[in-house]
Amino acid sequence: MTVSSSSAATAKADAIVVGVVKSAKGLVLAPGAADVAKAFGKGLLPALAGLGATGAKEEVTRLATLGATKAPVLVAVGLGETYDGEVLRRATGAAVRALAGVSSTVVLALPTQDADEARAVAEGALLGAYAFTAFRHVSLAEHKAPVSTFVLATGLKDAKKVVQRAAVVAGAANLARDLVNTPPSHLHPVELAAAASAEGGKVGLAVEVLDEKALKKGGYGGILGVGQGSVNPPRLVHLSHKGGRGAKKKVALVGKGITFDSGGISIKPAAGMEDMKSDMGGAAAVIAVMTAVAQLKLPVDVEAWVPMAENMPSGTAIRPSDVLVMRKGTLVEVNNTDAEGRLILADAIARACEDAPDYVVDVATLTGAQVIALGSRVAGVMGNDDTFRTQVVDAAAAAGESMWPMPLPPDLRKGLDSDIADMVNTGPREGGMLTAGLFLKEFVPDGVAWSHVDIAGPAYNTGQPYGYTHSGGTGMAVRTLVSLLETLSTT
Ligand code: BES
Ligand code: MN
Ligand code: ZN
Repeated sequence: MTVSSSSAATAKADAIVVGVVKSAKGLVLAPGAADVAKAFGKGLLPALAGLGATGAKEEVTRLATLGATKAPVLVAVGLGETYDGEVLRRATGAAVRALAGVSSTVVLALPTQDADEARAVAEGALLGAYAFTAFRHVSLAEHKAPVSTFVLATGLKDAKKVVQRAAVVAGAANLARDLVNTPPSHLHPVELAAAASAEGGKVGLAVEVLDEKALKKGGYGGILGVGQGSVNPPRLVHLSHKGGRGAKKKVALVGKGITFDSGGISIKPAAGMEDMKSDMGGAAAVIAVMTAVAQLKLPVDVEAWVPMAENMPSGTAIRPSDVLVMRKGTLVEVNNTDAEGRLILADAIARACEDAPDYVVDVATLTGAQVIALGSRVAGVMGNDDTFRTQVVDAAAAAGESMWPMPLPPDLRKGLDSDIADMVNTGPREGGMLTAGLFLKEFVPDGVAWSHVDIAGPAYNTGQPYGYTHSGGTGMAVRTLVSLLETLSTT
């Protein structure tokens, strides 16, 4: 994506995207489209209205420009009656998706009146121009190629900087999407660890991978227990970013990396089990965020601990009623092997906290209960510190991701009492997202501000594409965590 302050009407491109707004007087052009509109005389708005454009959010209307502009095609995308950054981001994404397979170079003549708007347009375009084609061979040719080149038409002074950051953040989200979309046949824990090392190495992160031997030596009973049913051994990846002399805060990130969740001996039903390739969505987000933090050179120390395992049933798998000795020393009775995420996260959170960070955030596709409570697009945020939980939710809002605060009611804790051990890993069905959070809370020492983000639904889109969101991996939590780390680096 490049930036240009010359007229979009004369730019060499395959298509121009403009915004349209719904108003009491009918259809109105959004800021950024003036030059383009002028090239049509007075004809543009009546033509769009005549084609059925109403200005509704994400509505896409195409027009042949027939010589009025240098680009042969114009796309008008609806922004609704009023729009904020996220509306703009989604609308841009919708327009860009509609151009897949048709246009390779696109001029964005959309609102960029301040840095937030420019950022939203740039991110929406780069997130919309995504396709996962690594596993297409004979069908590759008929698959619609995403837009490859953008020109951001803007008069904004800092546009170049804004675009640079947007490219890093959207690139990170697209990396997370790639990892989630990669099938478990090609992304066992060893391969996910290798991907983390490769991506981390490219941007100068320090990388350490604990293999099964190191995990045994370190007493990581949760990670080993979940991994023991699979022929593909577990891993714990440590990525480290040093913020330099300006860094005041120490932050730890933890991401759930179950490369496939069959449920184990407490096996899942067949219907929908294929979606469980996305059960490393938290790991993908954390790995991706670390690459962004390194590229943006944020002045904050960030340590990522990413546990990876494959949850499979077999003769060596953990059984319901087995007891695991966790890294922290806690003895956990496993009453359901499908509640495996909290077992690997507990070990990684405990390890992260041994370095006494100021803040810990874990991100995980943790519970079906999250989807029941908040639906498939809104993540739940819990924690042991209301101020920090609010900071995470606020970072999400600023980044245009949907996250909502959730409580950790102390009375639910008794659901995790075990008859023979320190705890069980599974409580009652009611409030399942919160009980999972309460389980993790046991592994966070006092004095560490901790937030837990359950992205079970939002990490993976099983439905149709919308806005800049494609089917499959979404990149959920990447933008939020980058925003959060930017905030923590300046406070
Ligand atoms: N990976 C699942 C949670 C999940 C469900 C993610 C749907 C994405 C979509 C997790 O490991 C799991 O199986 N959780 C169980 C916990 C239960 C056994 C307490 C669940 O939510 O059913
Ligand atoms: Mn499970
Ligand atoms: Zn799982």
